[in-house]
Amino acid sequence: MAARVTVPAVRSRKVAAGAPPLVMVTAYDAPTARLADAAEVDLLLVGDSLAMVVLGYDDTLSVTVDDMVHHTAAVGRTAPRALVVADLPWMSYHVSVEDTVRNAARLIRAGATAVKLEGGAKRLPMVRALVDAEIPVMGHLGLTPQSVHALGGFKVQGRRPEAADALVEDAVALVEAGVFAVVLEAVPAAVARRVTEAVPVPTIGIGAGPACDGQVLVLHDLLGLEDRVLPRFVRRYASLRADGTVAVGAFAADVRSGAFPGADETYEPEERLGAEVHGLPA
Ligand code: KIV
Repeated sequence: MAARVTVPAVRSRKVAAGAPPLVMVTAYDAPTARLADAAEVDLLLVGDSLAMVVLGYDDTLSVTVDDMVHHTAAVGRTAPRALVVADLPWMSYHVSVEDTVRNAARLIRAGATAVKLEGGAKRLPMVRALVDAEIPVMGHLGLTPQSVHALGGFKVQGRRPEAADALVEDAVALVEAGVFAVVLEAVPAAVARRVTEAVPVPTIGIGAGPACDGQVLVLHDLLGLEDRVLPRFVRRYASLRADGTVAVGAFAADVRSGAFPGADETYEPEERLGAEVHGLPA
């Protein structure tokens, strides 16, 4: 079995130094973690996008630490080779440094190896406290979905020169505080390139162009399980929602016509039920 991906291994993955780009996808439960780990991604992100693609909310603000612990534990139980990073949800690191460390520790105990938080300079005390507590931290700059109301919507960030400069400064400050990687979301490619060149840790882009040291997508977007919105930066590699609807429709038609279950899907009295159903010894 391949060795598990570690934080130091991720920290050193700069494309400019000859490393291959990092691949990160979200995972929220055991099946999605197993599916992505089998595809040999480097990182699994238990993202707070959970709120939108799994729990049915319109933004990420309603997801709680308890929700994140529940889903991180499901991912962690699969013992993936990929590094598991869990999002600190909104309000879990905004009130105090103590709160931040306690909430992050819950995610680590649930099965994450690192946590991610959104924001730049104003998060530095929290980042330093987490690193002091031996909790690896990933930063997240640009479009930070937990700031949706402050930003006035899910909008591209860093387009104006002063905003681009601030983004680069935030990234450098986060790295000085100890983050081992930085997600850049929805920023112009030229700005992502500047950040990538300015910091010694990998940048992982989502809607940030090709110059980053890695790329991340929300699994449900790339699989086409979530197809209600299509951000410009998403590439769909499957149509699982459409395929799933066709499959369930075929099942429904078979039930209604009497074609399901057939003889092969039906037990005879002499069969040993335990072995037949679960592959268990009878
Ligand atoms: O929650 C999430 O899925 C994320 C990614 C968009 C990076 O933070």
